[in-house]
Amino acid sequence: MFTYHTVVSVFTQFYRHENSCSSSLPAPILGGLQDTLPQSYEPDDKLHQHSLRSIERGIQRKREVDAALPFHSIFHTTLMQDTSIFNVAGEGSRVDPHRVPFRTLHSGARIPAIGLGTFGSDNVSGEQIARATEEAAEVGFRHFDCASVYDNEHLIGGAIKNIIQSGIPRDQLWINSKLWNDRHGEDDVVAACQKSLDDLGLDYLDLYFVHWPFPNFHAKGVDVSSRDPHARPYIHEEFMKTWRQMERLVDEGLVRHIGTSNMTRAKLELLLRDCRIGPACNEMELHPHFQQSEFFEWVRSQNIMPIGYSPIGSPARPQRDRTEEDTAPIEDPLIVQIAQKHGVHPATLCVKWGQQRGQIPIPFSTNPKNILANLQAVVSPPLSDDEMRRIADVDRNCRLIKGQVFLWRDGQDWRDLWDEDGTIAP
Ligand SMILES: NC(=O)c1ccc[n+]([C@@H]2O[C@H](COP(=O)([O-])OP(=O)(O)OC[C@H]3O[C@@H](n4cnc5c(N)ncnc54)[C@H](OP(=O)(O)O)[C@@H]3O)[C@@H](O)[C@H]2O)c1
Repeated sequence: MFTYHTVVSVFTQFYRHENSCSSSLPAPILGGLQDTLPQSYEPDDKLHQHSLRSIERGIQRKREVDAALPFHSIFHTTLMQDTSIFNVAGEGSRVDPHRVPFRTLHSGARIPAIGLGTFGSDNVSGEQIARATEEAAEVGFRHFDCASVYDNEHLIGGAIKNIIQSGIPRDQLWINSKLWNDRHGEDDVVAACQKSLDDLGLDYLDLYFVHWPFPNFHAKGVDVSSRDPHARPYIHEEFMKTWRQMERLVDEGLVRHIGTSNMTRAKLELLLRDCRIGPACNEMELHPHFQQSEFFEWVRSQNIMPIGYSPIGSPARPQRDRTEEDTAPIEDPLIVQIAQKHGVHPATLCVKWGQQRGQIPIPFSTNPKNILANLQAVVSPPLSDDEMRRIADVDRNCRLIKGQVFLWRDGQDWRDLWDEDGTIAP
């Protein structure tokens, strides 16, 4: 058996040896270890018994690679690229799920600090996404962001069944689903949740969101100019009727937590004033070109965990959801430059940045290499303070998921959905 302190001590000795000095690990390296290593290792946990050997192998490889480069840069680039060092489980290309950072919610529950998105943007089949879900679990993902409107929960249910049969207990998985806009009615919420549970093959969800705060329906694949003839603005009294049913889901044990999505501060303030059970998480668009810093900090100050959707800037979103003003964070010269420095794809850097900043990114991918890279990103050493500061400066306030189809009056602007002046548009 060895402990967290043993691992830190091995790195410290190695650092001193390589740098011919007697100093301790520099703060960024120590911070990286603290963020990524579990604080204790159980003697009977086979996964961890390999850890020290993996680190020693990595150190040996580092010596072979290039003794001339300074330790810090090798440490960074080798860790970002070489799964044998990340992979404390020892064998193969995976990340030990015990090493994936988590966040603690207001209930005290621990949620993995990265999840797999499952929305195929109309161009990836449900079967592919179900396969990706299984592959993601194999490499160490434990958190999956589902929704009834993604129209694939029945297939993901098959994947979850296989995951559990492979030996991963249900209580080590974190599964989200979402109530779609046409099921806000008082009599619909429990039935809609039960349908997601049946499709996913589960008897409880870890987190159930109200997907959008509007009961406005739109058919699959419609153009952004399409409108629900019955569309309504946000009416708080009506939303609270829906929320009471969400609270009931918690009371009845069908869901462990409830959450909001696509909310604004103005709407959340009303909800927090009137709810009995508050939202544990708020799912919101977050990537380097849309950081929502003020709202993000306010959400956190209310003990609500921000879950960052489209963390890569949703590069494969449907054409109909694109506008000329949209920008792409993965093409941002600074993101590209910092990613190159660390030897990773800009998409992976976006995921890394998001997790380090404090949100829970939920990148979508069906590519096994990308799935693994995204998970490795969150167990890699932290970006430097300077890198984080420079990325904070590339914010373009560029919302990509604008929600035009949920507008309720002719001649409205999509900004009316987002209460930009602090008031709820009537
Ligand atoms: N609450 C809401 O209203 C809401 C709205 C939008 C999204 N979401 C959730 O957020 C999830 C993620 O958002 P998103 O699907 O819009 O987009 P995203 O995660 O920002 O981007 C996904 C795209 O990035 C690519 N990608 C992923 N990892 C990569 C890597 N390491 N290197 C290179 N490319 C990579 C994927 O391609 P490959 O498959 O080829 O890797 C895919 O095309 C959704 O799936 C959904 O669960 C929620």
